[in-house]
Amino acid sequence: MYICLCKAITDKQIRRAAADGVDNLYELRQTLGVASVCGTCADMANAILQETNSAPTKPTLYTPTAA
Ligand code: FES
Repeated sequence: MYICLCKAITDKQIRRAAADGVDNLYELRQTLGVASVCGTCADMANAILQETNSAPTKPTLYTPTAA
């Protein structure tokens, strides 16, 4: 779904940026250009960013070691 119409940025691109380490709107703006034109998308983009960053990480695989 398009979040930023001015820059044609989708929620998937925002989630991918979050997975790559972007953790605030300033960095997202620098990276993708989100909210750099009219700013209407800022709240939604920030919400997706926060949601993605607060999501639980994938469980790690337990690997037994020799005692
Ligand atoms: S909709 Fe994102 S800057 Fe305009």
